[in-house]
Amino acid sequence: MKTYKIALLPGDGIGEEVCMEAVKVLRCIEEKYEVEFKITGGLIGGAAWPEYGNHFPEETKILVNNSDAILFGSVGGPVDAQFEPQWKDCEKNSILAIRKFIGASINLRPAPIFKELSHFCPLRSDIIGNESFEILVIRELSGGIYFGEHSRPTADTALDTSTYDRATIQKIAQFSFQAAQNRKKTLHSIDKANVLETSRLWREVFEAESKNWPEVKFHNLYVDNAVQQLVKWPRQFDVIACPNLFGDIISDLTSVFPGSLGMLGSASFGNKIHLYEPSGGSAPDIQGLNVANPIAQIYSAALMLRHSFEMHEAANDIDSAVLKTIQLGFRTGDIYMENKGETKLSCSDMGDKICAFI
Ligand code: IPM
Ligand code: MG
Repeated sequence: MKTYKIALLPGDGIGEEVCMEAVKVLRCIEEKYEVEFKITGGLIGGAAWPEYGNHFPEETKILVNNSDAILFGSVGGPVDAQFEPQWKDCEKNSILAIRKFIGASINLRPAPIFKELSHFCPLRSDIIGNESFEILVIRELSGGIYFGEHSRPTADTALDTSTYDRATIQKIAQFSFQAAQNRKKTLHSIDKANVLETSRLWREVFEAESKNWPEVKFHNLYVDNAVQQLVKWPRQFDVIACPNLFGDIISDLTSVFPGSLGMLGSASFGNKIHLYEPSGGSAPDIQGLNVANPIAQIYSAALMLRHSFEMHEAANDIDSAVLKTIQLGFRTGDIYMENKGETKLSCSDMGDKICAFI
């Protein structure tokens, strides 16, 4: 039987409870397919803080190194430690630290827009439309201003540097064109090439790569124009490739289209080990209440099956099961509306419902 080792890092906030639902779903997949998931839990973020005074302890690093994939929950706490210097240091912030640790360079942030939930989308109904669709944001995760020098040369000046090299851009360009080729054959690349030198290199590399993909309709967009276009006519987009900082911002914009952050999974590809996490935050206000939406975490598990374990059929099973729960009107509180004949479910009941459809 095939065996995969999964490092389960629930983190803090709602991480623990939504991860439990994703594990439930993985156990259903084990039953259906000839496969075993060896799931080992580890501490990160606010969950690691009380014991280690550190957000990404050595023990967790060892666990990660001995795993085939990481299923990550969420980190945000503890809120009262946020102002301690260790917490503010970017490199020690647990999510940035673990991305760096695994060498994460390509980040997939799919935003699935269900027609059944379009009343939760803040865009006008004639703009979001009445057909389901998905926008895939592909964010470069290892370079740009995030991992440049950050300093205060004097008390009154601040410095952040942004660097990109050709090989890093080449890697995401190839990946993005391949993704576009497999989907609707449309790719938008985002930059600020009218101002930034890193963006001019980005555009040069993407344009050269486009010659290898004659079937893909390729567009360059300045980031300021891109956000306008995304709000005015989101359906023109399918795959969007972005440098690190612009991808951070653009993916927050697209994350509102599905109507709840609880619907968005993500994948971050490292050198060897990949990390899968919901796009939403740790939502400490609803922690422990069993009301969080586990779909983002369950989608992240599906991405893990697809991209780390090549279990495409099982991943499709999960996607179909989620779709079915939505189509049949099962809702957690974040996507529930009174008087629409829907059934409101707790976090754990939503997990059970999805399992039942697998
Ligand atoms: C994200 C987050 C992180 C980022 C923060 C928490 C450092 O906003 O994953 O998008 O900026 O990458
Ligand atoms: Mg962000």
